[in-house]
Amino acid sequence: MAIRSVLRLGDPRLLQIATEVSEFNVPDLDALIEDLFDTMAAEEGAGLAAPQIGVGLRVVIFGFDNNPRYPDNEAVPKTVLINPKITPLLKEKEEGWEGCLSVPGMRGVVSRYSHIRYSGLDATGTAIDVTATGFHARVVQHECDHLDGIIYTQRLSDAKKFGFTEELLNSGQLGSAGCPE
Ligand code: NI
Repeated sequence: MAIRSVLRLGDPRLLQIATEVSEFNVPDLDALIEDLFDTMAAEEGAGLAAPQIGVGLRVVIFGFDNNPRYPDNEAVPKTVLINPKITPLLKEKEEGWEGCLSVPGMRGVVSRYSHIRYSGLDATGTAIDVTATGFHARVVQHECDHLDGIIYTQRLSDAKKFGFTEELLNSGQLGSAGCPE
């Protein structure tokens, strides 16, 4: 359908709480999902949330087979997740580098639950219930945060572990792992 422009940090729309989807199998929702996938592919992202393209609905997509931006990460199944709910399965959190298409060119360390269960609805309104660990769990938590107006920069573990990707790579801090979007 269309590649949409991604809102960048500073746009107040990224800070709004998104609204639940109540109608499924309607052209507007199907077009939104197509646009999200087109935009994520064009930006080589690992995930994208509707508010990032200026649509205040509780819709996220994520997943990839082999993402050139994150060559060390395991594949994550391509998923449309609507009206999501996340439940941590363990108290354990782990730190990892994240990036965001709304904060281009930068990465920061964020602590996320390592084991989660997430539920919600797919593109047709059918229930989804999945358990996830590691990078998969991180991507889901990052994307769902967007629905509550939260950008990863609000969750940095340490403001010193945040910077331009290029500088972090040049100084050997980043490696190539662990970055949603
Ligand atoms: Ni993001």
